[in-house]
This record gives sequence, C-alpha cells and structure tokens, in this order.
Amino acid sequence: MNMNSKKAVLIFATRNEHKLHEVHRIFQNIIQIKSLHDCGFNEVLPETHEKLEENAEEKLMALADALHQNCFAEDTGLEIKALNGKPGVYSARYAEKNQSPLDNLYLVLEQMKDIKQRNARFRTVIALYLNEKVYKFEGIINGRITDKPRGNKGFGYDPVFVPDGYNETFAELDQDIKSTISHRAIAFNKMLTFLREEL
Ligand code: IMP
Repeated sequence: MNMNSKKAVLIFATRNEHKLHEVHRIFQNIIQIKSLHDCGFNEVLPETHEKLEENAEEKLMALADALHQNCFAEDTGLEIKALNGKPGVYSARYAEKNQSPLDNLYLVLEQMKDIKQRNARFRTVIALYLNEKVYKFEGIINGRITDKPRGNKGFGYDPVFVPDGYNETFAELDQDIKSTISHRAIAFNKMLTFLREEL
C-alpha cells in the first residue's frame, strides 16, 4: 500500500454512519475509507464470539474472504465496573428483546440504579487486514455512567457516558471533541501510526 503517491483505500466493515463519520474525520485526506455500502456489500457480517478481539477478526475475515481487498473491522463495548464488565461484547444487543439502542441504555441505567461505583470504559478493538496479514489495535477511554441520559449528539450509550476530565456526556460534547478523545479515535490513531510506518 502506498500512502504517498495516491490516496490509499481501505474498506471499513461497517454500516454505522456515526462510526463512518468519526473515522472519516480521523483519516481525512490521508486514507480513503469506503464503507460496505460503497462496495455494494449487503451480507450480514458474523459476530458470534464472546470477546471484542474475536468478533472484530471474525467480521474482518468474512469481508476479506469475500472481497480480497485491504480492509478493517472494529468491535466496541461499554464495560461497566460494577456490572463486571457488562454490557461489554453484548453492548449492541444487551436488552435482548428488541435490541434498540434506547432499550440497551435504559437497561444499563436500571441495573445501575442505587449503585454508587459508576466507573466505566469504552473499549474498541480494530482488526486490520493488510496485504494478507492481520493486525489489531485497541483504544480505551475511561469515564463514568450518569444517573439519566443527557444530550442528543452521538449514538448508542453516548448520553450516559461522561469521559474522565469532562462534565458533559459524549452526547453533550462537541462531536469534534469526541472524535479526538474517544476509544475509537485512540484505536484508529494507533492504526494510522502503524500504516505510516508500514511504508
Ligand atoms: P458495535 O461495535 O457496532 O457492535 O457496537 C456495540 C454497541 O456499542 C452498540 O450498541 C453501539 O451503539 C455501542 N457503541 C459503539 N460505539 C459507541 C460509541 O462511540 N458511543 C456510544 N455507544 C457506542
């Protein structure tokens, strides 16, 4: 992959517009990111494991085997200390019945009712398939869970997560700030540093 001559292209195994937007901001003019939608890839990517690392790699290899192109996948979980790391890898489907992001968020708040220890973290694992090899990158941001949802920006659990060093939730903060400090930003910046060194 040559990042110097013309813009390198990587396919991102996601259909989540929020994640795409965040990642476009990080890679800006350095790497061209294509989504599954851009590639006309309509299959559901499998996520059958109990660890973020394994799910990221499973999604990645399903895509790499189908497209034979350099690509990356990521899996993210909200890990709450008082809930022994839950919802964790089950973050997207925590409230099993209908799996809406709001149901997930309210289930977390319900389980955290009356709990004083509110420490939590977002953890992202990226798996990168580059020239037939797989590499992994992790990003963690520590924070705490609020008593009720606040803010209407971002997505998922953003309204109930306050990152360390801030008073606002991820859903109240300017999204440029979230894109700079988030778990995903940390993991993607590690990947970017790696890609620069690969040349
Ligand atoms: P996945 O990585 O797309 O499977 O996401 C797992 C779950 O975590 C979903 O419920 C997402 O809404 C949530 N999630 C992932 N990233 C973030 C984030 O940056 N903020 C809030 N929730 C997130």
